[in-house]
Amino acid sequence: MKKVRKIAMYGGSFDPIHNAHVNIAQAFIKKLKLDKLLFIPAGQAPHKAGSDAAPDRHRLAMCELAVTNVKKAEVSDIELKRQGKSYTADTLSELSQLYPDSELYLIMGADMFMTLDTWYKPEEIFRLAVICTVPRNDDDVQALHRREAEYAARGARTMVLDLKRSDISSTEIRSLVSEGKSISKLVCEDVERYIFSNCLYIRRGEVNYALYNRIIKSRMGEKRYIHSCNVADEAVRLAGKYGADEEKARIAGLLHDITKETPRDEQLDIMERYDVPLNKLYRTNPKLWHAMSGAAFVRCVLGIEDDDIFNAIRYHTSGRAGMSVLEKCIFIADFTSAERTYSGVDVMRQLADRSLEEAMRFGLSFSIADLAQKNSAIDPNALFCYNEIVMQLSDGKTAAGK
Ligand SMILES: [Fe+2]
Ligand SMILES: [Fe+2]
Repeated sequence: MKKVRKIAMYGGSFDPIHNAHVNIAQAFIKKLKLDKLLFIPAGQAPHKAGSDAAPDRHRLAMCELAVTNVKKAEVSDIELKRQGKSYTADTLSELSQLYPDSELYLIMGADMFMTLDTWYKPEEIFRLAVICTVPRNDDDVQALHRREAEYAARGARTMVLDLKRSDISSTEIRSLVSEGKSISKLVCEDVERYIFSNCLYIRRGEVNYALYNRIIKSRMGEKRYIHSCNVADEAVRLAGKYGADEEKARIAGLLHDITKETPRDEQLDIMERYDVPLNKLYRTNPKLWHAMSGAAFVRCVLGIEDDDIFNAIRYHTSGRAGMSVLEKCIFIADFTSAERTYSGVDVMRQLADRSLEEAMRFGLSFSIADLAQKNSAIDPNALFCYNEIVMQLSDGKTAAGK
C-alpha cells in the first residue's frame, strides 16, 4: 500500500519567527511523524502593518534562517506571492493540489484556533486539514478543548498538543530590539544578526548607543567593531578637548564605518536608493564608497538627520574644505584610535593633542602620499582640505584645545 505523505502548514506573520515557533514545529514533526512542515508567512494585513512591521522579504528571509537546521522544515512564499488578500482556505486548497495523495495538517497559535470559525470558509479548512494548536497557558487548555468539541461537531479533525509553555512573543521581541536589548535567548543567532544588521523594528531617529552597538556588531567583524568603539571613545575625548558636541562625536564615531564591510552591490544599492550622486571618479573607485554609503545609511535607515553627524561620516576618509570641529575630530580619531599601531601613530597622537589642524595636515599628507604611491585616484575633497589646512596653518588660524 502506498504510504500517505503527511504535510503540515504552519502559518503566521512570523514578525519575527522565534524559538517557540521552531519548538512547536519540531514537536509536531515528531508527534505526527510529518514528512514535511512548511512555514508559510502570511501577507501582512494592512491594519496590522504598523510602523514596526517588517516587510515581507525580511520575514521570509528570517524564516529561512530559522529553519536551516530543522529537519523536514521548509519555508514557502505561497501566500506572499499571491495577489490580494490571502486566505488559509485558498492556501490549503493550493497545497492539496501541489501535494495530491497527502494528508494535510494546519498548525496555528491558540488565539487563531479560538477564532477559526470566523475565518473565510471554515468548513473548507476543516475538510482539507487536521487543525493543530498548542495552549499558551492553563486557561487555554480548557477553552481549546471546548472549541475542539464544537469544531468536531462540524466535522473538523483537531489536535491540541500540550507542550511545555513558552511565553515568547514577537511583540516582546520587537520591543526589546527597539530598546537595543539582547534577544539571543528568544531567536536563533542568525535571526538575531539579521534583525540588527537590517535595522528591523527600530525607532528611527531615537538615539540609543546600545542599539547602535548591536547594529554595527552585526554588520562587521570583531576587529572593525573594536575599531569603531575605539574611534567613538577617541572622538569623544577630542570633542571634549576642542569644544565639539560629545554626543554627536560618539554617534558619528560608532557609526562611521557602518557600511565598510557591506558588499559593493549593496552599497551601490544604498547610494542609488538614497540619491547619492556618483560621478565617474566615485563610480570607478569602490574604496571611496563606504563614507558615502555609510552617511546615507545613517541618515536614511537609522533616521539620524543631523547634518554635522552626516558630514563627519561622509568626509571621514577624505576630509573636505570647510570642515567643522566635529568632522575633524572624527577624521583624526580614525587615525589615533587605541588599537592603531602603524608607524607614525605616536606623532599623530601628539599632534592631535596639540592642534586639530596639525594632525589633519599630517593625516592628509600620509593618506594622499599613500594613494599616489599606489597609483590610486585621490578624492579632490582631500586635496581641497589639505590646501585649506596648509594655508590656515601658515596664517596661524587654528582651533585651540583646552
Ligand atoms: Fe572608514
Ligand atoms: Fe574607520
